[in-house]
Amino acid sequence: MTGWVNPLRDKRDKRMPRIAGPCGIVIFGVTGDLSRKKLMPAIYDLANRGLLPASFSLVGFARRDWADEDFGQVVYEAVKKHARTPFRQEVWDRLAEGFRFVQGTFDDDAAFARLAETLEKLDAERGTGGNHAFYLSIPPKAFQQVCEQLQKSGLARPQEGRWSRVVIEKPFGHDLQSARELNAVVNSVFPEESVFRIDHYLGKETVQNILALRFANEFYEPIWNNNYVDSVQITMAEDIGLGGRAGYYDGVGAARDVIQNHLLQLLALTAMEEPASFGPHELQAEKIKVLSATQAVQPFDQTTARGQYAAGWQGSEKVVGLLEEEGFSKDSTTETYAAIMLDVDTRRWAGVPFFLRTGKRLGRRVTEIALIFKRAPHLPFDKTMTEELGQNALVIRVQPDEGITTRFGSKVPGTAMEVRDVNMDFSYGSAFAEDSPEAYERLILDVLFGEPSLFPVNREVELSWEILDPVLDYWATHGKPEAYEAGTWGPASADEMLHRVGREWRRP
Ligand code: BG6
Repeated sequence: MTGWVNPLRDKRDKRMPRIAGPCGIVIFGVTGDLSRKKLMPAIYDLANRGLLPASFSLVGFARRDWADEDFGQVVYEAVKKHARTPFRQEVWDRLAEGFRFVQGTFDDDAAFARLAETLEKLDAERGTGGNHAFYLSIPPKAFQQVCEQLQKSGLARPQEGRWSRVVIEKPFGHDLQSARELNAVVNSVFPEESVFRIDHYLGKETVQNILALRFANEFYEPIWNNNYVDSVQITMAEDIGLGGRAGYYDGVGAARDVIQNHLLQLLALTAMEEPASFGPHELQAEKIKVLSATQAVQPFDQTTARGQYAAGWQGSEKVVGLLEEEGFSKDSTTETYAAIMLDVDTRRWAGVPFFLRTGKRLGRRVTEIALIFKRAPHLPFDKTMTEELGQNALVIRVQPDEGITTRFGSKVPGTAMEVRDVNMDFSYGSAFAEDSPEAYERLILDVLFGEPSLFPVNREVELSWEILDPVLDYWATHGKPEAYEAGTWGPASADEMLHRVGREWRRP
């Protein structure tokens, strides 16, 4: 595989920053939100951190009638508004020299010929070395056309010693069948090792820290199993609504948008066995194994819940319900909250329910993975002394306020032996001086290195749909989402779902 280095044989000092070799990126869908808010700023931040080669070039492809300078202005505004690191004129000036814009539509052969010409010129003038990443920040229905155009114009299969990679954003299909079709289309043009599927959660520091926590330490491993863990709760709660996103979200819903990808990836990293190394094949093999052992628990009327936000208060702001949001059909049954219960049928996890939930317009923005431990088998205290003792928990705080919390019982100061829950916290903010890079910085850089570990492969995507499809099929034919007031923690049915099995959702 071009560019990829076997981590077992790689003797480099991994603490030294590695700079991408000569290359460029072409973004399709350059006028979209993702491009302005995430991709352009991440590219600047990488340049600012000195991680891009001097020859780096960025080519925008879109329908707009723009000159290179107009495109540059759009990138400039995006960087000024959304970049993580401070603006430095000299970094910007150097980066901007490599900006080009190609005007065209996806069905226009001549535009792709111009793109090929532009890239060839950049190779010659700036020394991009014939190495190009094609970032498809476009709706999946356009993937086929763009891939075929890249093939026709000779851009998908470069000469020996050069590379050509395609980066695709979710949604990877809307069920197993369509995901297979989509993969077939992409793989008919790009070999699997040149396909980089973005699940931006894998680019987050706190998500990679799951691996450090589990596999660099000794004291978690003995308790990381069904002998000690009672249940696992993975929560991704957002306070934002869906104004402006109807085009993508209506008919998709929370389960497809977030559970199929981000939350099942978090589950895989939490539940998988230790890989032989962090090489892509080893890591993917473990994720595939654990996803193959995972299934949604039946019957779904008892083990799943879904909701749709109604009007309510978000802090001091009055907000409308989904059906009043611009662009949503008035009888939309799209869920904005989804919760499911899963079994992971492995020796480590048999009998431990995994609860996954996500929602928009909830009480606050928080993503966390909580391992909730069994109660001590015996408490040598009077009942009244442990009334305020809950279950021990280990919480990986993915965002915001990134870190880890351990929750356990402690004696309340005083003459009585009263025991109450307390928290012990690790916070990235106070433990480390440097800020965490944005997920997209890490992932874009990995694409340029050809380092695939943090990108789900075809099989993972398909397995995730295999897990979710039965629930989606059930929902499609049984009722509709229950309304919940914006600013609350979701529909009552989600609470009932846990009460039925003697558990309660955490209130982060
Ligand atoms: C995206 C979803 O993948 O992740 C959005 O499509 C969601 O609906 C977003 O808002 C959340 O990302 P983050 O990084 O802000 O948690």
